[in-house]
Amino acid sequence: MPGLWRFPEGTSPGLTKKLFIRTYGCQMNVYDSGRMTDVLAPLGYEAIETPEGADMVVINTCHIREKASEKVFSELGRLRLLKDARRAEGGTMILAVAGCVAQAEGAFILERAPFVDIVLGPQTYHRLPEMVARAERAAAENNGAGTNGPGVGILDTDFPADTKFDHLPAPTAEGSTAFLSVQEGCDKFCTFCVVPYTRGAEYSRPAAQVIDEARQLVALGVREMTLLGQNVNAYHGAAPDGGAEWTLGKLCRELAAIEGLERIRYTTSHPRDLDDDLIDAHRDLPQMMPFLHLPVQSGSDRILRAMNRGHTAAEYEAKVARLRAANPDIALSSDFIVGFPGETDADFAETLDLVRRVGFIQAYSFKYSPRPGTPAATLETQVPEDVKSQRLAALQALLLEQQAAFNDACVGREMDVLLDRPGRHDGQMLGRSPYMQPVHVEAAEALYGQVVRLRIKSATASSLAGVLADVSAAAE
Ligand code: SAH
Ligand code: SF4
Ligand code: F3S
Repeated sequence: MPGLWRFPEGTSPGLTKKLFIRTYGCQMNVYDSGRMTDVLAPLGYEAIETPEGADMVVINTCHIREKASEKVFSELGRLRLLKDARRAEGGTMILAVAGCVAQAEGAFILERAPFVDIVLGPQTYHRLPEMVARAERAAAENNGAGTNGPGVGILDTDFPADTKFDHLPAPTAEGSTAFLSVQEGCDKFCTFCVVPYTRGAEYSRPAAQVIDEARQLVALGVREMTLLGQNVNAYHGAAPDGGAEWTLGKLCRELAAIEGLERIRYTTSHPRDLDDDLIDAHRDLPQMMPFLHLPVQSGSDRILRAMNRGHTAAEYEAKVARLRAANPDIALSSDFIVGFPGETDADFAETLDLVRRVGFIQAYSFKYSPRPGTPAATLETQVPEDVKSQRLAALQALLLEQQAAFNDACVGREMDVLLDRPGRHDGQMLGRSPYMQPVHVEAAEALYGQVVRLRIKSATASSLAGVLADVSAAAE
C-alpha cells in the first residue's frame, strides 16, 4: 500500500509466529479482530493474509442470521485439514473460534468440532494470551495436536466485570482510517435479534479512555475515525472529571477538537437514541460526515411494534426531518428486514412507501431469519420463503434505484474525498466521499492518506469517478 512501509511478511523483529484471523459480521468484529492481533503481538504473533502456514488461526464469527452461523462449521472443516497437514509435518496450528457464534454455541462447538483448541466470546479476548499459552503448552505435550480431543478445549464465554477495554495494549493503525469501539452490547431486545444475548448488556467506555485511544490513532496517521457500537448513539460514558456522563454528541465535540482528526463517523445508530445533542453536533461540527446509518427495519407500525423497536414510522421520519433541518446535506442509509412473522402485503407496502418518502442513498436488506432463543422465532405466523424472496427483490430494486439516482446527482459536484487505497492501476487512487461512496481518481501516490477536493465526472450505481478539482478548474 503506498505510503505505508512494513516489514516484509515474516521478518518483523521479534514476531516469529504467524497469525491468521478471518472476520465475519459487523464492524465491531473487525475492530475486535484488530485488537486480538494487538494482544497477541507480545507473544510473537504477526498477522498474515491466508491461513496456510499459520501457527494460529482465529475465526471471528457472526450469529446474526442463520446463513452467517452456518459458515462456521464449513470453515472449521476446511481448517481441520490444514491443522492435520501441519501436524503431519511436525508443526502445530492453534485453532480458535471467537465472536458471537462462540458466545452463543461455545460448548456445542467444542463438542461438534473437538479439534478446536479455544472458544472465546466477544468480551474475553484480553485473556487470549493466557489461553494461547495454555494451548501451546498442551500442543507441546501432545505432539502438535493442541488441546485436540473431546472435552479438553478451552472455553471462555464470560461477561467479566473488568472489561476487555481496561486491558488492551496501545492501538495500531494501518492507513488513514480507523474504527474505535466506544459502546458495546444492547438492552433493547428487538424480538428478532441475538445481539443482546451474544454481546451482553449495554456498556459505554469511559470518555477519557476513548479520547486517549483516539489521540493515539491520530498520532499514527488516522484522519477519519468511525466510532462503533451496537447502538453507538446510546453512548453514555463516564466523564473524565466525574461530572455528568457524556453523550455521543459531547464525545464527538471533544474528538473534533483533536488536531489532525478531519472526519468523524459513527455506526450503528438507533432511531430512539438520536437526541438533540447529536443532531446539534451535525449542525455545528464540520468533522461530522453528513452520512448516517439509521436502521428503520420496517415502515409498518404494526411490525415495528411486534419487533419491539420502540418507535413508529412517523417518529422515525420526524427524527430524519430534524437531522435534515440541522444539516440539509445529510444522507441516510438503513437496514431492513422483510418477512418478519406476520408481515402482510399491506405491511410490506408501507415499507416501500417509507423508502420512497425518506430516500436512502444506500441500504442493507435481509430476509427475516429465525434465531434460536429470540421471541420472534417461535411465532406461528412465519412468512413463507418465496414471499420473503419476492419482497426482498422488490425492496432491493427500489433501494438500488435510489442509490443510483443519488450517485448520478453527484456528477458535477465537488466533494472532499479521503484517498485511502491504491486504485486498480498505476497512477489511480481510490477514496471515500463524505457519503462513503468509493471514488476513483487519477492522482499521485503522494496524496495517499489525504483529503482532496474532487470534481465528480461520472457515476455508476456503486461508485464515482472524479478529477482533482484544482486541475479541472485550470483546464476549464
Ligand atoms: N443495533 C442495530 C442493528 C444491529 S444488527 C439496530 O438496532 O439497528 C444488524 C442488522 O441485522 C439489523 O439492523 C437487522 O436489519 C439485521 N438483523 C438482525 N437480526 C436479524 C434476523 N433475525 N433476521 C434478519 N435480519 C436480522
Ligand atoms: Fe439487535 Fe435491536 Fe439491539 Fe439493534 S437494537 S442490536 S437490532 S436488539
Ligand atoms: Fe454479528 Fe455479533 Fe456483529 S452477531 S453483526 S458479529 S454483534
